[in-house]
Amino acid sequence: MGISYRTHLHLEVRIVYTKLEQVMTQTMTDHAQELKSKIETKTAIVGIVGLGYVGLPLADALHTGGLRVLGFDVDPSKIRNLEQGENYLKHLGADMTERLSASDRFSATVDFDRLDEPDIILVCVPTPVGTHLEPDLSYVIKTAEAIGSQLRPGQLVVLESTTYPGTTTGDFVPAMLKAARENNRGSFTVGEDVFIAFSPEREDPGRKSHTTTTIPKLVGGTDPISTELACSAYAHGVTEVVPVSSTEIAEAAKILENVFRAVNIALVNELKVVFDTMNIDVWEVIRAASTKPFGFMPFYPGPGLGGHCIPIDPFYLTWKAREHGCVTRFIELAGEINRGMPEYVVEKTAEALNDDCKSVKGSNILVVGLAYKPNVDDTRETPAAEIIELLADRGAKVTYHDPHVSKFPNMRNYSFDMNSVVLDQNTLEQSDCVVIVTDHNAIDWSTIGSHASLVIDTRNAMDGIGSSKARIVKA
Ligand SMILES: NC(=O)c1ccc[n+]([C@@H]2O[C@H](COP(=O)([O-])OP(=O)(O)OC[C@H]3O[C@@H](n4cnc5c(N)ncnc54)[C@H](O)[C@@H]3O)[C@@H](O)[C@H]2O)c1
Repeated sequence: MGISYRTHLHLEVRIVYTKLEQVMTQTMTDHAQELKSKIETKTAIVGIVGLGYVGLPLADALHTGGLRVLGFDVDPSKIRNLEQGENYLKHLGADMTERLSASDRFSATVDFDRLDEPDIILVCVPTPVGTHLEPDLSYVIKTAEAIGSQLRPGQLVVLESTTYPGTTTGDFVPAMLKAARENNRGSFTVGEDVFIAFSPEREDPGRKSHTTTTIPKLVGGTDPISTELACSAYAHGVTEVVPVSSTEIAEAAKILENVFRAVNIALVNELKVVFDTMNIDVWEVIRAASTKPFGFMPFYPGPGLGGHCIPIDPFYLTWKAREHGCVTRFIELAGEINRGMPEYVVEKTAEALNDDCKSVKGSNILVVGLAYKPNVDDTRETPAAEIIELLADRGAKVTYHDPHVSKFPNMRNYSFDMNSVVLDQNTLEQSDCVVIVTDHNAIDWSTIGSHASLVIDTRNAMDGIGSSKARIVKA
């Protein structure tokens, strides 16, 4: 098979898989056989649609595994960067893009008419939410139509974008097959002529301990052969592939992972507020509870959720659940608590300034960290933007420092003409208050402690810096 499994924990998966093997030997079509052999001999071409935080490292992993990779993106600047070996995602390093641009097994294009070239197409396009937290599947559907308009027998298409259960079979495949018919590509039977799977991405940008290659990959096909083909393809770039029995299981597993995080972060955010009124430090409480060797997993409070996943994905399920007459109370409550955090931070800032006989209005406030998480330049959904806006609305003169984000980027809901200021003695002494939003490793916390007068610390970043002139308020 060429696929490695865990030999523990996944007994049911193994059983399902054994059954799949039996079905497979009975029904594999010529198209499936041909694709299987191309994958085994590494002559298959993999097309990756969407070369962002998920698609680019995936392209690199499969290329490193020996496959030929053709990347697709609507953004021509990304393609130009890749041709020149430059990495537009700094945390992934220039080595990756230099390696890809130097290889005759990698190229990238904006020409979606070339979607008939790949044997395997992996879809990694955005799945945002609209203003009312409703799923925005427009990128996924557009991609399905682009693939459909070039579809040919023998292609395997895998959706990776996070979405609600049922998207692959209910939205993606129908849009793709409709486009295929409308473009006279013929009619296709899934599992015989073309093959379909869902495989959720579990990327955590900036995390060094786990990479695209080492994070186990869930794969659920629409049928046993699709699952088998997708597993064999991923096995070239991922050390552990975990087959599941359907696309819906794979879709739901990804949503469970993200809901789990959103709910647990909301829990500690709520406890932070409660313990603060009791003068109890939630960070020390979490550290203490973490000494329990079982039944507890630490989550940490913060200034609010950010990134492409946790603030967004749970609401895909909420929306879909409504269609089934169900209410996702945990998700709604977690969202409410987490969304309240920027306001809480601003309130704590106002109180702390008040204690210094100052108002927010007219104060110089330095926000430290614009990215939504440490050591990356990703500002998507960052709570820093809302905190800056709330402070500015109250009349503060706000500046920011972020070693990874030199200019305030264009955002869907926020627009500020700001550049990162230098973090030095002068800047800190000019500031009435410093609000720490992101704890990047590159920030010198002791300089802040030595020269700021008041620090609102949402990340416990000032813990353990030793003596500090600044008054530290945790928020
Ligand atoms: N970023 C993460 O940490 C992460 C983790 C797990 C899952 N995901 C999921 O993976 C998916 C992709 O997320 P991402 O973070 O890589 O997004 P991203 O914004 O970094 O990348 C998406 C890429 O797709 C391109 N694109 C947009 N529309 C396109 C189209 N119609 N055709 C081709 N390319 C198009 C964009 O130019 C961009 O380069 C989302 O569903 C997300 O929820 C993301």
